[in-house]
Amino acid sequence: MPHHPRHRWLRWPSEPDRPRLAFGADYNPEQWPREVWRDDVRAMKTAGVNIVSLAIFSWARIQPREGVWDFAWLDEVMDLLHGNEIAVDLATATASPPPWLTAAHPEILPVDREGHTRWPGARQHWRPTSPVFRAHALALVTALAERYGEHPALAAWHINNELGCHNAYDYSDDAARAFQEWLRRRYGTVDELNRAWATTFWSQRYSDWEQILPPRLSAPSSYPNPTQQLDFKRFSSDALRDYLRAEREVLRAATPDVPVTTNFLVMGDTGPVDYAAWAGELDFVANDHYVIPGPQARDELSFSANLVGNIAGGLPWYLMEHSTSAVNWQPVNKAKAPGELARDSLTHVAHGADAVCFFQWRQSAGGAEKYHSAMVPHAGEDSAVFRAVTELGTTLRELAPVAGTPREPARAAILFDWDSWWASEQDSHPSDRLRYRREALDWYSAFLELGIRADVVPASGAWERYELVVAPILYVVPRPLADRLDAYVGAGGHLVTTYFSGIVDEHEHVWLGGYPGALRDLLGIRIEEFGPLLDDETAELDDGSTGALWTDRIDIVDPATEVLVRYKTGEQAGRPAVTRRAPGPGSAAYVSTRLGPAGLTPLLATLASRAGVTSELPAALRGHVELAVRGPHRFLFNRTDRPLDVSALAGPGRVLAPRAVMVLLHGGTP
Ligand code: GLA
Repeated sequence: MPHHPRHRWLRWPSEPDRPRLAFGADYNPEQWPREVWRDDVRAMKTAGVNIVSLAIFSWARIQPREGVWDFAWLDEVMDLLHGNEIAVDLATATASPPPWLTAAHPEILPVDREGHTRWPGARQHWRPTSPVFRAHALALVTALAERYGEHPALAAWHINNELGCHNAYDYSDDAARAFQEWLRRRYGTVDELNRAWATTFWSQRYSDWEQILPPRLSAPSSYPNPTQQLDFKRFSSDALRDYLRAEREVLRAATPDVPVTTNFLVMGDTGPVDYAAWAGELDFVANDHYVIPGPQARDELSFSANLVGNIAGGLPWYLMEHSTSAVNWQPVNKAKAPGELARDSLTHVAHGADAVCFFQWRQSAGGAEKYHSAMVPHAGEDSAVFRAVTELGTTLRELAPVAGTPREPARAAILFDWDSWWASEQDSHPSDRLRYRREALDWYSAFLELGIRADVVPASGAWERYELVVAPILYVVPRPLADRLDAYVGAGGHLVTTYFSGIVDEHEHVWLGGYPGALRDLLGIRIEEFGPLLDDETAELDDGSTGALWTDRIDIVDPATEVLVRYKTGEQAGRPAVTRRAPGPGSAAYVSTRLGPAGLTPLLATLASRAGVTSELPAALRGHVELAVRGPHRFLFNRTDRPLDVSALAGPGRVLAPRAVMVLLHGGTP
């Protein structure tokens, strides 16, 4: 079960009980002369900003040399913000160590899998397991907690920044020692580790913990032990969490009343941290999200926001960063179209965010991120971006009653599992083309196309409450998870799973006797061999859809298993492509190929209708409108690029413009 945060929200300096949505940005005053600061707070008030994240990258400014502290500038900024009723989410400033520290202690620098040092010059160049780094960082955290713990502007502590964003995988000697310790706790004895890692293979048997290393680069065209690779991913996520806990303990001891958070990165392909296992460490969940252009960009935004909402246990969370317009780190950085800034922001609110913040307040004139958009762009306040920001500030003030209301659970869910993500994409598998998150997102798009709300929920969460559960590429299925899935279907639940699911246990050992071993009886099928497809191969199905990436040679082994769709072409022609076993009121369906959103939509329509799960939208709006529900509020998003008549939901004559959002109270009142 996931550990939900105990949920202590921001400590607002004034009127703490007044419902409000937080609105603001990362604020980096150290990039600007003091004269600009007053102008900043004036413009913040114009925009309706009520909170900023401060000092994220300020270590070198706060501690210019070992033993030398300079808080005067930060005192002034804290007071200035407070004087203008702007609260502060104060960072612990540990994200990027200063040059004096790396020069004196190069042993804190991370090492890549080839043994190369990651040099300073950018940011986050520190080993999560370095005791030297930790000692210096915690001294800084202590100094900040002592100095600002009582400051009236302080609304929350912001630990580090996007932990693991640039240093998640470190192969250094410090990491090796910590990995050995982690393995010792996990396995107890070297024999047990040998069994779990199947080290009889390739003569890898260990006789002492100290022989074990991170999976550093080995012989060309060879593969490090797969369980070692998977455990290293688990360890790396846990090592960062351990670091998070170390900072948090300093803060909790010094300032027990101040809530603590850190910004997650639930977005795109960013996968090194199992955030579901982190949520319980914090007082509230925070996330950063950037839209990555592409045909499913908007669906991905909603998918990520939805997953964060469920990691947060349905309770309000904090959108720490997103962008007002272009970013700087894509190959080509497109500006947002009019309306997108508000729509993207409100997508997060619809999925539970009670704070909408941006990177960053004022666009930098120098440095690596000078072409990254901000609330105040290079053009200044007389700009479309700043006008859109100000308008958003007004909208968020009007939406104050939404604050604190819980997400309304859907009837269907998509399971999201970091273990399966990490393991299914490892090397030396039937295909290296498989992408876990892409398959999950395709199912989400299919739900959106059908106008059926679906929650994206961690596999460790309480998903039994859902009537229909889709578990794409659930590759790792330990015995207890197999039992849960059995019990779920036995109790009337409807499970849908896909190719490469139920294949291995927690050690990445294959469940024997035919695939998908852990789910074979539940699904009533047996597969002797996988049928991955080459890049230029496809397989036609008899429902008119086309499969790519994967097929399976399926035998039906239970009379209760029905074939819903068959292969028409290719190696599996005539064989089952989609099956469904309904031993009682529940069912377990299997989809053996990659259909993409277009192919999944009609199939999901059948599976959802058999499960009795229907759309809450009028037929004419399904697929065109995305619906999200928080308490009594219904958020409608236009998924198309044309105006939509939404009078069936919102009353006569109501039209939802492209990229527009409408918030209704139950019953349809805007
Ligand atoms: C991350 C970081 C920010 C900034 C943005 C740019 O989210 O936390 O400091 O670099 O990316 O998109």
